[in-house]
Amino acid sequence: MRTWVVGGIGALVVVALVVAVVVAGGSDSGSGSDSSDSAADQGDPVAGAAVFDGTCAACHGTEGTGTDVGPPLVHQYYRPGHHSDASVALAVLNGVQPHHWNFGTMPAQPELSDQDILDVTAYIRQIQEAAGIR
Ligand code: HEC
Repeated sequence: MRTWVVGGIGALVVVALVVAVVVAGGSDSGSGSDSSDSAADQGDPVAGAAVFDGTCAACHGTEGTGTDVGPPLVHQYYRPGHHSDASVALAVLNGVQPHHWNFGTMPAQPELSDQDILDVTAYIRQIQEAAGIR
């Protein structure tokens, strides 16, 4: 019985170490606290910044802080746990019916490639995280 208990604790320590290594490895990849298979981790936030400035900033503001015609994306509404990476892709592909704000409809942005969407998602997550939104 005693050996079983000790073995069990040993196994827990091993699991905890593996989790710690995975978590540390994930944050080394540079795109933040999302799980490692998220769109944000597949995208390049530097390329995404260029996409954002060219396509999204007119409404969402430089660095995602919002304008007169679009809401800030650096906002608790859009934290990863509330608006997933998939919802960013859907916004770009389908546009958005107004539901959180009174800015009107977001038009779809069909000129973005799949890679552009991953990149811009990584950028949005990066500026959110820099502002403490996670
Ligand atoms: C013409 C203005 C405009 C442009 C350009 C624009 N958006 Fe939006 N976007 C909006 C508005 C307005 C909303 C808010 C709708 C609401 O919830 O009331 C919004 C909402 C969003 C949302 C939240 C979606 C949701 O599910 O609530 C995301 C994510 C988003 N935009 C991403 C982007 C990205 C990425 C780009 C650039 C590729 C972009 N937007 C370009 C106007 C714009």
